[in-house]
Amino acid sequence: MNNLVNKLEQTQFLSKEEWSALIRGRTPGTADYLFERAREVRHRYYQHDVYIRGLIEFTNYCKNDCYYCGIRRSNRHAHRYRLSKEQILDCCETGYRLGFRTFVLQGGEDGHYTDEMLADIVKTIKSRYTDCAITLSVGERSYESYRLLFEAGADRYLLRHETYDPQHYSKLHPQELTAAHRQQCLRDLKEIGYQVGTGFMVGSPWQTPENLADDMLFLKELNPQMVGIGPFIPHHDTPFADQKAGTLELTLFMLGLIRLMLPKVLLPSTTALGTIAPDGRERGILAGANVVMPNLSPTDVRKDYLLYDNKICTGDEAAECRGCMERRMNSIGYNVVVARGDSLNVDTRP
Ligand code: 5AD
Ligand code: FES
Repeated sequence: MNNLVNKLEQTQFLSKEEWSALIRGRTPGTADYLFERAREVRHRYYQHDVYIRGLIEFTNYCKNDCYYCGIRRSNRHAHRYRLSKEQILDCCETGYRLGFRTFVLQGGEDGHYTDEMLADIVKTIKSRYTDCAITLSVGERSYESYRLLFEAGADRYLLRHETYDPQHYSKLHPQELTAAHRQQCLRDLKEIGYQVGTGFMVGSPWQTPENLADDMLFLKELNPQMVGIGPFIPHHDTPFADQKAGTLELTLFMLGLIRLMLPKVLLPSTTALGTIAPDGRERGILAGANVVMPNLSPTDVRKDYLLYDNKICTGDEAAECRGCMERRMNSIGYNVVVARGDSLNVDTRP
């Protein structure tokens, strides 16, 4: 298998058959070799720097009903909340003082926030913090909406494709949601000029190595600036309550593969990874990741933004997470940096 890792590093390309074989045939030895190569590539472009993003989970209302997600509309037990513009700005102020230079506004697909409202929030943040980037993560919207928000000053957009294969996609989502529309949104976002992040869950129900091979081919074709992946973790109030969680081992392996395929990509070591293992985020960094996304949401709403069970950091203040993250990164020889942390793939706007 090490020869496939070498081929990947040298050419940044594998065929679907090769991806499947490598993922299916991986061993602890292959993984160690992969992580060593992934770290070297990562150090070449990003040294030992770790970028931080302040995550603001501003609404847990959602009109969708994804089978895996704890804030799906059918979950009657979810305690719903929305943050006002002022509350969001307070989160940014706290975050700015803590050294965050990217704010990620994430929420369910909540019709309460019109284009005009979101554009106004984006404009206000950008005018107050001129050295910051704004990332939106608010799901599927129209081309016009994406364009308007970009014009308002949003720099980046996160929209995981979740799984490339339409059949697998339809096992994870109700029929009104399609892989084709999801992927169209990503192409729209790219065309408009956003730095785009996509990604998928590792170990989602019925996922096969072939599905993951398709995900890698899709990433290669889209060539996004950011890739977010994390293990699937069941939520007790969803149809997938009794499904098995994805593993740390496979998630780390996929992180290493993504680093070698897209050497300059921004790759977060996610909260879900930190949830399935106490040292998950550190191990993600050691597998090739270079971003962490500590939570800036107000403490009183954090326990309500539960996409999956046992989510970490729901009781901690923003400052605690910021300090905790710095210590964790230092403990493995990496440094949190105060910077926008743009992808090396793109020109950035002034
Ligand atoms: N386990 C892990 N990740 C999840 N997400 C949603 N629900 C879960 C879950 N149960 C991920 C999806 C989504 C992102 C915001 O969170 O990939 O795109
Ligand atoms: Fe939140 Fe460690 S990152 S407490």
